[in-house]
Amino acid sequence: MNNYAKRFLIGVKVIDNQHLSLFESINKLAKQISRGCGKDEIANIVHFLDKYCIQHLASEEELMIQIGYPELETHKLKHSLFIEYVKSLKKEIKSDGYSDILAHKTHNHLVHWLLDHILGDDKLIGTFLEKNSISVDK
Ligand SMILES: [Fe+2]
Ligand SMILES: [Fe+2]
Repeated sequence: MNNYAKRFLIGVKVIDNQHLSLFESINKLAKQISRGCGKDEIANIVHFLDKYCIQHLASEEELMIQIGYPELETHKLKHSLFIEYVKSLKKEIKSDGYSDILAHKTHNHLVHWLLDHILGDDKLIGTFLEKNSISVDK
């Protein structure tokens, strides 16, 4: 793992591994875009995002409940906005199909999510764990 990826760690293995897999999927999309075949990667990323929404967001919400995280409701609201985003992405594909422009737009949105949500909101869960000396055996 490089230093950049290390910035995303919150200190809970399950969550960190799930974040890492999103990180890798976004990198793969970026690589395909740079090769001029971004649109070929959209189906893979949508498939991944479906799984990510169900598994990761649920794991994170379970964790927040388990540790008595005070910002649970606000955080859940942000997750629901992400779920809405994935739904709207699927709708757009259904009506307009795959395109390189859509691959770019998707990449931008996901990078923004990484920086804004994972480095912002999710990292705060790690800070809370540390501050309250809570260790999660996961
Ligand atoms: Fe997360
Ligand atoms: Fe989150």
